[in-house]
Amino acid sequence: MINQSQAWHKLVKEQQRLNAIHLTELLKDSQRETDFSCQINHLLFDYSKNRIDQSTLQALLELAKEANLTQHINDLFAGKPVNFTEDRPALHTQLRTAKSSKEISAVHQQIRHISDRIRHQQWLGYDDQSITDVVNIGIGGSDLGPALVTEALSAYQSKDIHIHFISNVDPEPLARLFAILNPATTVFIVASKSFTTQETLMNAESARQWLLAHTDEAAISRHFIAATAKPEKALAFGISEENILPFWDWVGGRYSLWSAIGLPIAIAIGMDQFQQLLAGAAAIDQHFQTAEFSQNIPVLMALLSIWYINFWQAHTQAVMPYAENLAKLSSYIQQLDMESNGKSVSREGKIVDYHTAPIIWGTTGTNSQHASHQLLHQGTLLVPIDFIMACRSHGDLVGHQDALFANCLAQAQALAQGKTEQQAYDELMAAKVEPAIAKNLAKHKVIPGNKPSNLLLFDEFTPFTIGMLIAIYEHKVFTQGIIWQINSFDQWGVELGKQLGNGFLEKIQHKDKSSIALRYYQEHNN
Ligand code: F6P
Repeated sequence: MINQSQAWHKLVKEQQRLNAIHLTELLKDSQRETDFSCQINHLLFDYSKNRIDQSTLQALLELAKEANLTQHINDLFAGKPVNFTEDRPALHTQLRTAKSSKEISAVHQQIRHISDRIRHQQWLGYDDQSITDVVNIGIGGSDLGPALVTEALSAYQSKDIHIHFISNVDPEPLARLFAILNPATTVFIVASKSFTTQETLMNAESARQWLLAHTDEAAISRHFIAATAKPEKALAFGISEENILPFWDWVGGRYSLWSAIGLPIAIAIGMDQFQQLLAGAAAIDQHFQTAEFSQNIPVLMALLSIWYINFWQAHTQAVMPYAENLAKLSSYIQQLDMESNGKSVSREGKIVDYHTAPIIWGTTGTNSQHASHQLLHQGTLLVPIDFIMACRSHGDLVGHQDALFANCLAQAQALAQGKTEQQAYDELMAAKVEPAIAKNLAKHKVIPGNKPSNLLLFDEFTPFTIGMLIAIYEHKVFTQGIIWQINSFDQWGVELGKQLGNGFLEKIQHKDKSSIALRYYQEHNN
């Protein structure tokens, strides 16, 4: 296993050495920002505020080598069955190459055709009115990607079409939408790779019933579209053939926003902009395949993440976009990271004896500063953070972006540097606090610092750079999976809950009262 490798043993020693050195010491080196940052088109990646020095970085890079990362990257892009428990390739990168296959181009044309017709008021509902609302019904990978990207790119969105996302089987959000939408001007996209997901099918069925309460079966072809790897199931649901956009087994659910699942994005921002999103991701695919590991942003991010998880016992990591439009980013990365690498069995079928995926969480800054950052500064947990920001904003208000960036920089610095008891005491004394009180209070005002963070600073959030951002995290997660020797592309863990869920639904429908919770539910459900 990888924890028996030389590089791993070296990293254990590196941790013991660096444990005695505070980040403020490391940050005194004037070369540090140059040594621990890299720039590619549209992006600065600054990782200088990490508990590393050159010797640690070398050991981390050796770990990537010992894990044979180059070979695994080649295998991923060559379409080898990297998803070895399902004997499948993971070829989402094919969806964004300039030279895509015939089948991919055909789906792109279909996306263009449908999105153009909806955007240009040529797609007419059952009473010949044009479409005003599109509701994407899907969950997990069939929801989070399109939901994240449409919101991230709201500056690019058509003002005439409103896009809604329904994922949870909780009846309230869909009922709320039914109360405000006009069935004659609403189109539903049923987004489901498997077309068997309980939540999605139940929501889709309720949407169909809602439509049929206003019109007849013939209207389905004007109001339902499907994006699925099981077209025959969408046909059986009643969706017409020309409205079914296929994708394939080799596109994992959480890697599917680049496929037909991206249709709501194309409807929102137009197909040309959707292709810019693909181009941004393709630029990162190229970078990931060709850049030296020492300059390779996804590889560096993965190694730093492993450094904290496996050598510093940091079991959670925060994704903090300083951009309100990226509010859904942490949920997206949460699925990407936790569903991909939340595994404990190695390629050889052995239980790994080291930690794998962390718990990913996060909210937008500066909101998070007034909520969760207290724990980051003074709590007992070590939480490495990715700060994500753009230099330019689409919101044109004087001074706001400067203030946003100032806050982002200040947080990174405060986390790294902290405040000593002496500094706290001196500040209190300068504020004329009684010495005895100052002495006590200073203890509570100590901020240990030494908290690591990365900064991903884009020039602007555009379809291209949002594509870059997502692809960076995809390859980061892939790299971690390779080093941990697990399969990042299956998700057997979620299956048991799905199976049991169907069994419980049957029990509830049959008024089963065999447990305290079932009894309570039956008594209070009506
Ligand atoms: O439950 C997990 C999962 O299988 C995800 O991997 C997937 O993105 C989601 O459910 C939705 O699946 P589907 O697109 O098949 O409805």
